[in-house]
Amino acid sequence: MPLTLDQFLNSGAEPGLAQLIATTVDACAGIANLVRRGAVGEIMGALESENVQGEVQKKLDVISNDMLLAACAKAPALAAMASEEMDDVHPVRPIDAEARYLLLFDPLDGSSNIDVNVSIGTIFSILPAKVDAARDATAADFLQPGRNQVAAGYVVYGPQTTLVLTLGQGVAAFTLDPASDQWLQTAEKVAVPRETKEFAINASNMRHWAPPVQRYIDECLAGDTGCRGKNFNMRWIASMVADVHRIMVRGGVFLYPWDKREPDRAGKLRLMYEANPMSLLVEQAGGASFAGTGRMLDIQPTGLHQRVSVMLGSAAEVERLQALHEEALATA
Ligand code: AHG
Ligand code: MN
Ligand code: MN
Repeated sequence: MPLTLDQFLNSGAEPGLAQLIATTVDACAGIANLVRRGAVGEIMGALESENVQGEVQKKLDVISNDMLLAACAKAPALAAMASEEMDDVHPVRPIDAEARYLLLFDPLDGSSNIDVNVSIGTIFSILPAKVDAARDATAADFLQPGRNQVAAGYVVYGPQTTLVLTLGQGVAAFTLDPASDQWLQTAEKVAVPRETKEFAINASNMRHWAPPVQRYIDECLAGDTGCRGKNFNMRWIASMVADVHRIMVRGGVFLYPWDKREPDRAGKLRLMYEANPMSLLVEQAGGASFAGTGRMLDIQPTGLHQRVSVMLGSAAEVERLQALHEEALATA
């Protein structure tokens, strides 16, 4: 009989953290139910509002955000939340010896895929709060490098509802069993293969990429006639959760790099809600994550909603990308 998520958490995390993760994942099971109802549940389509990043909000972005806020506030170990869909930090209770965690999430990742019935997901990250004096958490409490995360995970709402979770010691996967409504462990040790022949990038942006990224993709496209000496395949789902999940299962490399359309913006994806949790998961599964300048998890954040260039997945490919970036710097 596979372990249930609760059994796994009770043996791997301290009780407050275990309960916070269980509560977050429960909210995701609720989102999964809504996603399955589709048009019948009146969750499709866009709203007139925009989020803090200037993106048009989908109904499901807002519904998922509200569901996570309402559910997670009940976890006594939680001091505050921050979300891709909210301008400011959402304090729950003053930080103290019990309420000593901060939760961040991308409530609905892959919004452009909601209306077309393609896999979407939720990404979450948990940071420790600095317990000094009893006070409400502020944005400054959240601005910690990704290596500080005590847990990170994502749930894919796809043909199956799958949770991939790390508590900082390897990565486990769970499947929501519709027959019992339980999260059952379906992988004990997720491992990203070091080598791969698959890359994921939105190639429509090719003309805007920086030279090292151009060169990397050119080498992949040259296949067995080029310096890589092997043919590559390409996939792009446009839901980071689904693209990263494929990499967690069979390897690959995912890129959403800086590009020159908006030179002052570091990238499209968000450091705190997307890049950091995914990077911890990928590293814990034996892969690597590079932000174009250095290791993703070492970045000292300066803003809650800051963007970043993302290159993560199979270690051999991330190392190649790193080498090309270093070479470009050295010859500049
Ligand atoms: P979100 O739906 O949370 O805004 O995230 C969408 C992100 C990410 O999931 C995906 O990899 C990327 O945007 C797709 O971007 P393009 O549409 O530019 O390909
Ligand atoms: Mn997202
Ligand atoms: Mn989102």
